[in-house]
Amino acid sequence: MYQYTEEQLISMKKVEETRASRFGAAIPRMSADQKEEVLASFHPDYISTAYEELKVGKNKGGKVLHELAALLQGRSRVLDLSIDLSSPDYDVDVLVIGGGGAGAAAAIEADNSGANVMIVTKLRLGDANTAMAEGGIQAADKPNDSPAIHYLDALGGGHFKNKPELLYKLVNEAPEAILWLNNLGVMFDKEADGTMVTTHGGGTSRKRMHACRDYSGSEIMRTLRDEVLNRGITVVDFTSAIELIKDTDGKIAGAVLMNMETKEILVARAKTVVIATGGAGRLHYQGFPTSNHYGATADGLVLGYRAGAKLLYPETLQYHPTGAAAPTQIYGALVTEKVRSLGAQLVNKDGIAFVNPLETRDVTASSIIRECKQNGGGITTTDGEGVWLDTPLIEMVNGEGTIEKRIPAMLRMFGKYGIDIRKEPILVYPTLHYQNGGLDISANGMTCVENLYVAGEAVGGIHGTNRLMGNSLLDIIVFGRNAGKEAGEKSKSVQLKALTLQHVEDFEQELKTAGAASGEASPKLLPDYKRKAN
Ligand code: FUM
Repeated sequence: MYQYTEEQLISMKKVEETRASRFGAAIPRMSADQKEEVLASFHPDYISTAYEELKVGKNKGGKVLHELAALLQGRSRVLDLSIDLSSPDYDVDVLVIGGGGAGAAAAIEADNSGANVMIVTKLRLGDANTAMAEGGIQAADKPNDSPAIHYLDALGGGHFKNKPELLYKLVNEAPEAILWLNNLGVMFDKEADGTMVTTHGGGTSRKRMHACRDYSGSEIMRTLRDEVLNRGITVVDFTSAIELIKDTDGKIAGAVLMNMETKEILVARAKTVVIATGGAGRLHYQGFPTSNHYGATADGLVLGYRAGAKLLYPETLQYHPTGAAAPTQIYGALVTEKVRSLGAQLVNKDGIAFVNPLETRDVTASSIIRECKQNGGGITTTDGEGVWLDTPLIEMVNGEGTIEKRIPAMLRMFGKYGIDIRKEPILVYPTLHYQNGGLDISANGMTCVENLYVAGEAVGGIHGTNRLMGNSLLDIIVFGRNAGKEAGEKSKSVQLKALTLQHVEDFEQELKTAGAASGEASPKLLPDYKRKAN
């Protein structure tokens, strides 16, 4: 059971005292200038000392966080191995690296194209950020909405940096993505007449968030996993890709794999490869906790970069405004934005609502950090500081029973520690949630490296420099399917020459010449948590 501190109890009383006056009150939106100011002063992306310049590769001269630089300029795990590329253990048309939503969607569509597909995943099929997504998936499929409005919302949220052709595809194919998932068996929240229930997210001008309670990603992943397994698509789990293989023409030609348990090295020859390895939260950039899955260690970025692909906006990360700040057992876990969509307000230690809860994520997160670091409005927790998310307002706004019906996972997550979110506010602080940037692709899903495709969180550019809620579950479906179709079709005309890892040797030489080799084994594969000394 969670034991509140004296300071927390005094502050919580103030939240209770101000609740009635805050109920129904409009919390002002920030002007563009105010947003710029709070971002520049408090968003972690603006802390220049957290960054360093890359010395080699396609992004040479560009800035990335130290933790990522160490991996991008790290030591390939294949350099110390003797690998026989002449007799591959697997020979397929399409190799999908990653067993989350994007990987599964890609594999299903590659299978539809008639290709021989294999998924390789370092954990199990479905062990991924997709399964941890809560709030929902955006699609403009209501009469008062349109893909054009969805486009404008995401463009504004992304600070006008979104790659236009990718964003165009995302929003235009969104309604079809919902239909596809619905037909596969995803149990979306619906009204009695079958109409999908939709809500707002931060930065949306229309209610277009489709959800499955507050375990939308888990339900979507369940369905995709079943579909992959029902089709008999080959899935090699507990096996990571540790390097991409090329052929002597420089085309992608497969990957070197490592069994995570036995460390056995295997070779997969493939005519096309789809990287769908997800995000990087488990690198804990700048010491932040994370809402991410255990396997989110930026592996795909490393593999792609070493093979010659370019990164787009790798310097921009998303710190979700509401990670759990207490109890310590769930520090950094996601408290879905849907809690705010349903009416919960962000309130400081004096019971004052200090930011409109549905500003875009980067602005909201920065405002929370400012409230704690500058304004003295934070509440001390075991792990740092936090502000209140006043959840009892939800039932005042929407009626009794709303929390249990719409966000049961939140009720349960806090209930395990004796906190009833229907009656008590909860403590939150930004948590590392998403990498806005990633590998640069064209609208057909391919990088600048021939036959290397990317889908999901490993892609950069779809969301500009700040993604809106619900556009990630959407992009794994739209761009996962897209990459699968394209890679499947392309594989039909690919003739591979002899396999080689020469590009890895060349990259290592470049690192040495530039004096940039970090020596860190990369890709990272799993986080290296160590027990703290007592
Ligand atoms: O807050 C959330 O439920 C997260 C959604 C997302 O990142 O899209």
